[in-house]
Amino acid sequence: MGLQAIVVGVLVQFSESFSMVDLFDTEPGAPVDLMGSVIWPLCLDEDAQAAMLADLRDVARAAPFRQYETPGGHKMSVRMTSAGDVGWMTDRKGYRYSKRHGDGGAWPEIPASVLDVWRAVSGVDRDPDSCLVNFYGEGARMSLHQDKDEAELRWPVVSISLGDPGLFRVGGQARTDPTKSRWLMSGDVAVLSGDARLAYHGIDRIKFGEGGLLPDGGRINVTLRVAR
Ligand code: SIN
Ligand code: FE2
Repeated sequence: MGLQAIVVGVLVQFSESFSMVDLFDTEPGAPVDLMGSVIWPLCLDEDAQAAMLADLRDVARAAPFRQYETPGGHKMSVRMTSAGDVGWMTDRKGYRYSKRHGDGGAWPEIPASVLDVWRAVSGVDRDPDSCLVNFYGEGARMSLHQDKDEAELRWPVVSISLGDPGLFRVGGQARTDPTKSRWLMSGDVAVLSGDARLAYHGIDRIKFGEGGLLPDGGRINVTLRVAR
């Protein structure tokens, strides 16, 4: 790491009120522990990222991205679509998994490129039935939450990052537990399982336009779950 990177890293660390892991760690390989969640840095190389992006564009053509409303009446800043037997959604009636997307059709199939990642890192021999695709445009964020709308909470959650860096924050099973943060880079994969399955987590912000993979900027997160 060059001096410039070290200086920038130190400045970034001082500007955050929480603990920060090395911003410039983009080598593939060893998994990183973040409050019990496991992050595989650069699990997907650039070719694999581009191939997955093309598959996700097909998903979005079949089931267009939507901006959902929370039960409390807030429009989410992240745009969402899904693949699989069921897709996660929310409106005034609540958070839930639905067999149909907004236009009334079944969700498209989960692309093989995405399933391959689950099979490589989930550690279980059951495939996911739901693949949420989140799109973060400029200024989008995801506040701290638990993934707990699934029928059985013992299956892992696998989450793939593409495009612009996103500042991932993870804590414990109570909202007030201490948290740690790390920039998720394009090609990184995070796994929430075991004690971390119900950890509070979210994306504080993205670095819009800094990722390179999406020509117009933005971040995509693909979350795989066994929902039913
Ligand atoms: C989520 O928790 O639903 C999204 C996490 C992410 O965007 O990395
Ligand atoms: Fe989540």
